[in-house]
Amino acid sequence: MKYMKAEPFRIKAVELVKKTTKEQRQKWLQEAQFNIFRLKAENVYVDCLTDSGTSAMSSHQWAALMLGDESYAGCQSFYKLEASVQDVFGMPYVQPTHQGRAADYIMASLYCRPGTYAIGNMHFDTFRGNAEVLGALPVDYAIEEGLDAASGYHPFKGNIDLHKVQKLIDEKGAENISLIIITVTCNNNGGQPVSMQNLREISELAGVHHIPMVLDSARLAENAYFIQQREEGYHNTPIKEIIREMCSYCETATMSAKKDGLVNMGGLFVTRNQEIFQKANQMAIVHEGFITYGGMSGRDMEALAVGLQEVCDEQYLEYRIGQVKYLGDKLKEQGIPIIEPTGGHGVYVDGRRFFPHIPQHEFPSQRLVVALYEEAGVRAVELGACAFGSKDPETGEQTWPKLETMRIAISRRVYTNNHIDVIVEALGDIYKNREHYKGMKLVYEGPIVSLRHFTAGFELL
Ligand code: F0G
Repeated sequence: MKYMKAEPFRIKAVELVKKTTKEQRQKWLQEAQFNIFRLKAENVYVDCLTDSGTSAMSSHQWAALMLGDESYAGCQSFYKLEASVQDVFGMPYVQPTHQGRAADYIMASLYCRPGTYAIGNMHFDTFRGNAEVLGALPVDYAIEEGLDAASGYHPFKGNIDLHKVQKLIDEKGAENISLIIITVTCNNNGGQPVSMQNLREISELAGVHHIPMVLDSARLAENAYFIQQREEGYHNTPIKEIIREMCSYCETATMSAKKDGLVNMGGLFVTRNQEIFQKANQMAIVHEGFITYGGMSGRDMEALAVGLQEVCDEQYLEYRIGQVKYLGDKLKEQGIPIIEPTGGHGVYVDGRRFFPHIPQHEFPSQRLVVALYEEAGVRAVELGACAFGSKDPETGEQTWPKLETMRIAISRRVYTNNHIDVIVEALGDIYKNREHYKGMKLVYEGPIVSLRHFTAGFELL
């Protein structure tokens, strides 16, 4: 398909965005106490805060909305969604939820026992939070290459370290481990994929010890695409087949449909265990909505049923992963340090290497987020000292995370490469001028330290 390098879609409706001046942005930053979560989205030129709930839907999805059946029980839209999920996941039981974290809550409630360990490659915040509230102890066992933003190329930095898992089982006993949850792709360390071999091996280990293995599958199609491109034996395997094999290694999966569902709202709890499903139904009725809608409207289920099929399209995935790589490659050309290789949903700039003179307790990645908005109206997000820093529950002493990055998340089917070039040019200029930047001081954090990045206030030093 020579020459066919452009986006595999054309644009039917556009959302207008506003150009702003640096003086305006400086004023808005002051008002927001240098926390980009507090900015008004209308004052953002290119919004790379998240890839979650920000996808552009296709004309097929918009058309499907009109078919939404809003009956309380047994609506047609649910059965369409159920069939689409069964087809993609290869699992029989489907409980919709209003978004991913509601499925996380159900998962944690059904699997996590107080005082037991919840092992993950890297837990996403919402599952971790739910597990902690239930008294479980979440531990992150990603491979070492995945914990070092400067570690260079590794095809599957989302992999879990089997030795670390085995060691915990030996030390604590399998009965003290509630579950193993693998997040695909691994959001917290760069949208990095997990290999099929790793999924197979960890499921074998879990099986031997009768520990349930589950998936956080928010970005499962992106993960499948990396397996197809990078793993021996999968180059000719269709994406859906790869996803079904990934799912075959686990009992249950949660999904935030706001990512690879290509919709703006929605979540899923999918399982092959009938007993777990029946319990999930009960929890959905109490917290989400009746079994056949679980917090989603009929029209939203229609759009998700279509989105799940579209996301498995290889031409789409080639464009999607290619656009993220385009950004990563352009940044590398300018010497900007990023996590390599680029992952599925964004580029993660290494705050430590970008601003080596700003110590971690002065929030180098947050400083970079602020600089990027100030210079170009581009909104990225800090995943470092502020978001992942915590306090020792006994001593109250600050602890600092290994990874110190700024995530530039790319929305699906939303921005052109001209927008990507804006990011490249602005970051290039900031990088050239990097010695002139100083750190930041945290002046406000809310009562829950692990959530402080959403509400924090800063001052420039
Ligand atoms: N799991 C993963 C891996 C996620 O990245 C997210 C959300 C969730 C679960 C929760 O899903 O938002 O639908 O309730 N991630 C967003 C992000 C917020 O920006 O990475 P949700």
